[in-house]
Amino acid sequence: KRRVAILISGRGSNMAALIRAAKQSDFPAEIAVVISNRADAAGLQKAAESGIAVEVIESKPFGKDRAGFEAKLQAALDARGIEIICLAGFMRLFTAEFVQHWYGRMLNIHPSLLPSFPGLDPHGQALRAGVKLSGATVHFVIPEIDAGPIVMQGAVVVRDDDTPDTLSQRILGVEHRIYPEALKLLARDQVRLEGDLCRTLATEQAEQA
Ligand code: GAR
Repeated sequence: KRRVAILISGRGSNMAALIRAAKQSDFPAEIAVVISNRADAAGLQKAAESGIAVEVIESKPFGKDRAGFEAKLQAALDARGIEIICLAGFMRLFTAEFVQHWYGRMLNIHPSLLPSFPGLDPHGQALRAGVKLSGATVHFVIPEIDAGPIVMQGAVVVRDDDTPDTLSQRILGVEHRIYPEALKLLARDQVRLEGDLCRTLATEQAEQA
């Protein structure tokens, strides 16, 4: 099984969905550690209750020294033999060097149909734009925020009476479904980066899964 680190900053509901999926005996990856850059992240407790190793590597003391934070993070990842990183509500940007090191091996999830509505308040952005469909995107991480080759998307219908809260609730359900599926594809080498695009191999098998 491929060894995965999940990086969180907060609630950790996507983290919990990945942990749950990875408990299945036929899942091709195991969650080796959950790392938070904030000691107060609610997800830490959930992870510990699931019997997963947790680590806190506070980013705040490093201030603008992103490379300093990343050196500490990288040491923790190396110590545990991590092969794949899943960002799950991890609210800190990486340097191009860190991203390059993990090129093709680091996934992120964002609650919009990228490339629409990257960055902050994607639900509010979607409602203000008046789109009739929104959703969630799992993508490979590149240096630009919420950009990068798309691995998987799921859509929801936007209702006239939606608020950012109701829309985010519905999209969250999609997130919890597609993130484990996307990780499964990567862990089985059924997706790979080819230049700026994500190529999916064995698509039919993936759809049946
Ligand atoms: C999720 O909706 C995730 O897609 C979003 O933060 C939330 C974290 O929730 N991520 C981003 O907006 C990244 N730009 P969670 O901690 O319960 O998984």
